[in-house]
Amino acid sequence: SQVKEEYRPAYHFSPMTGWMNDPNGLVYLDGEYHLFYQYYPDSTVWGPMHWGHAVSANLTHWEHLSTALYPDSLGYIFSGSAVYDAENSSGLGTADSPPLVAIFTHHDPKGAESGSSTFQHQSLAYSTDQGRTWSKYVGNPVLKNPGIRDFRDPKVSQISNEDGSKIWVMTLAVWDHIRFYTSPDLKEWTLSGEFGKNIGAHGGVWECPDLLPFQTPSGEEKWVLLVSINPGGPQKGSATQYFIGDFKDGQFIPDDSMIRWIDYGPDNYAGVTWSNLPADQNRTLFIGWMSNWIYGNVVPTKAWRSAMTTPRELSLFDVSGTLLLKSAPAKELEKLRAQAYPINGSSSDLPSEAVEILSELDGSDQFSISISNEEGDEVLISKESNLVSIDRRNSGKVDFQQNFGAMHSAPMSWQAENIRIFLDASSIELFVNEGELVMTSLVFPNSPYTKIEFDESLKHKKIFNLKK
Ligand code: FRU
Repeated sequence: SQVKEEYRPAYHFSPMTGWMNDPNGLVYLDGEYHLFYQYYPDSTVWGPMHWGHAVSANLTHWEHLSTALYPDSLGYIFSGSAVYDAENSSGLGTADSPPLVAIFTHHDPKGAESGSSTFQHQSLAYSTDQGRTWSKYVGNPVLKNPGIRDFRDPKVSQISNEDGSKIWVMTLAVWDHIRFYTSPDLKEWTLSGEFGKNIGAHGGVWECPDLLPFQTPSGEEKWVLLVSINPGGPQKGSATQYFIGDFKDGQFIPDDSMIRWIDYGPDNYAGVTWSNLPADQNRTLFIGWMSNWIYGNVVPTKAWRSAMTTPRELSLFDVSGTLLLKSAPAKELEKLRAQAYPINGSSSDLPSEAVEILSELDGSDQFSISISNEEGDEVLISKESNLVSIDRRNSGKVDFQQNFGAMHSAPMSWQAENIRIFLDASSIELFVNEGELVMTSLVFPNSPYTKIEFDESLKHKKIFNLKK
């Protein structure tokens, strides 16, 4: 139908119907970005988990495919990753037709209820037809639970040894820490290291890790370990912290004990990166679940619940000697720009619910923006002193959960030079200095926002209508 559903994003991925949480199995193959996701098709609240599936050639236009993985006798299909096994090391494809292999957590709900602690195990599924159909491996599970309740969310990557040979590394969330396992064939896994018991944020359980190599601005190799945590995030509820250090011999050694967050807004969780990107792209692409476990199940959408964040390109940057992770909007988003509306005065109408707003700071390092509608709903975005904030207390519907209507702030001790804001019906993503500071925030206005106002520190203001 052509009727616009209230709060349905235009250019963010959302399921047609049903419940969605974490992105899973992000893998690129033959011109397609695969996006699998935690999915419960029979309801708009969390339930028996499946892997939903979509593909895109450009990270902005998604084609919905049929459900890839269904719950089975070993349990629900919890979060995990996917790799392209180009050399058929697993033997699950053939040399001519190497497989995509999904590595996920089997969660046995009966075991969980019965008080057992061994109800989460790691398992495999594989596809030799570009991810269109999947078979579960007959030898599942491949990594059995050693007696720890929370033992899940395997993220597998392929790493080169010093002699040039390759090895699979699994980064696994284990209650309050991370374990690394290695394997030659994705089937036999050996514990190689543990990290995190006495470092980082521990206000909740550790989930959905990722391990990523980067070049620092000075050309050094550094590894970043992403660890989602629920609850215990800086804005309450769920959020993603990260560590910077070295990864050697299956062990992660952090540079320092600083707590860093990938996104200071309340609504970016369980984000991970695509594997098998073409080497000449030389980039690290991330996407997160644009919600928060505090209220994810009760946000006021109807036929579906949740969307993913915009895709983001990660890199390391340096602020007076401290390395931090930058999340820049993926360049593919620029292709969505339809009409441009330059703004001369201090305010403008918004041309639609799906826009990108750009502006540069005049050097003052302080700014404020208001986004509003005729009903008096208003979101305030600002930098004052060293705090960047999004205030959604008066943004529209906020009373579906007591923590939603809040003002969220993030420390930014360095100069703000420019901002980009992505608005898409029910979300605001703020990128300061192309992602040196990011805040992602859901909003549910009583009617679409129609107006934007800027203070005088903001120059070169532009609005783009974004169209698919
Ligand atoms: C994170 C998470 C994962 C788990 C999945 C279940 O949001 O709790 O740890 O695998 O969601 O849907």
